[in-house]
Amino acid sequence: MLTVTAPAKVNLHLEVLGLRSDGFHELAMVMQSIDLADCLQFTNTADAQITLTCDDPSLSTGADNLVLKAAELLRARSGFGELGVSMHLEKRIPIGAGLAGGSSDGAAALVGLNALWGLGHTPAALESMAAELGSDMPFCVAGGTQLCFGRGELLEPVAPITEGLAVLLVKDPLVSVSTPWAYQRCKEISGTNYLQGEMAFEQRRQALREAPWLQPLRAGCPPPLRNDLQVVVAPETKAVQASIQLLQELPNALAVAMSGSGPSCFALFRDQDQCDQAAADLAPKLKTAGLSAWACSLRSDGVRIAS
Ligand code: C5P
Repeated sequence: MLTVTAPAKVNLHLEVLGLRSDGFHELAMVMQSIDLADCLQFTNTADAQITLTCDDPSLSTGADNLVLKAAELLRARSGFGELGVSMHLEKRIPIGAGLAGGSSDGAAALVGLNALWGLGHTPAALESMAAELGSDMPFCVAGGTQLCFGRGELLEPVAPITEGLAVLLVKDPLVSVSTPWAYQRCKEISGTNYLQGEMAFEQRRQALREAPWLQPLRAGCPPPLRNDLQVVVAPETKAVQASIQLLQELPNALAVAMSGSGPSCFALFRDQDQCDQAAADLAPKLKTAGLSAWACSLRSDGVRIAS
C-alpha cells in the first residue's frame, strides 16, 4: 500500500488581469501550500479496475472526481490498459472552499500512481498532465510558494516564505462557492475594467515578480494579501462577510483575505503561537457564528509520498 498526502493551498495574491480567448481568466497569483491535508491511499489490484472510496459520504466518488479523472488519464497515457488500483481518500480539507482540495487530491493521484505503477514520469510531465485536468492542479503537484500565471497553470517558483508565518483558516461548513459562478460574476461586475492584451498582462506579472514581499530578503515585509474575487463573492455570501469581520478583529493579524473563489477566509500571523492564541481567543465567537477554524503552518512542498 502507498499513502500520499495532499495539502490545501491559500492564495496570498489573486489578481484577475483579463479574459483569454479560451474563455478562461488570465490570472496573476501567488499560491501557498499549508499543512491542512487530505490523505490518499493506493492498493494495487490485478483486475484492471480503478475504484475510489472516501470517508466523507458527501463527496462524489463518481467519474467527476478529479482522483478518478487523473487515474484514467495516467492509465490511458501509459498504454497499459490492464493497470488497476483501489484508492481510499481521507478528507480533511473542506469541500468547495477555495482551498484546492479536489485539485490536490487529483494531483496526489497522479504522483501516487506514477510511483505505484512504475511509470517513471518526471515532475514536469506530471505537472503538464495536471494542467489538462484543472487550472490549480500543477501548483498542487509542485506546491510550496509559487507565482501562478496564465489560467493558474504556469508556475514560477519563488523563494520559500521562511519567516514561520502561520494561517488561521475559517469556513462555514454549510456554505460552498462554485468557482465558475465566481468568475462569471467577476466578468459581469469588472469585465469593462479588464486589462487588454499581452503587454498589459506582462506588466502586471512583472510588477508581482518584483513585489517587495516576494524578494528573498523580505524580513519584516509580510504578504499584504489581495484577492480580486473577494469583492465579487463577499457581497453575495454572508459567510464570507462574517468570516472577514471576525478575522479583522484579531489584534495580531497581519492581513486578512478570502482564499480562491471562497468561501474560506484566512488571517496571517507572524508565528504559530500567535495563530494558535488567536484561534483560542476567537473560538467562542466562531462557535456562535457557526464557523469552523484551522490553525495551519505554511508548507514548502506539494503532494508527497508519505509511505
Ligand atoms: O480549471 P478549473 O476546472 O479549476 O476551472 C473551473 C472554472 O473556473 C472554469 O470552467 C472557469 O469557468 C473558471 N476559471 C476561469 N479562469 C481561470 C480559472 C478558472 O474563468 N483562470
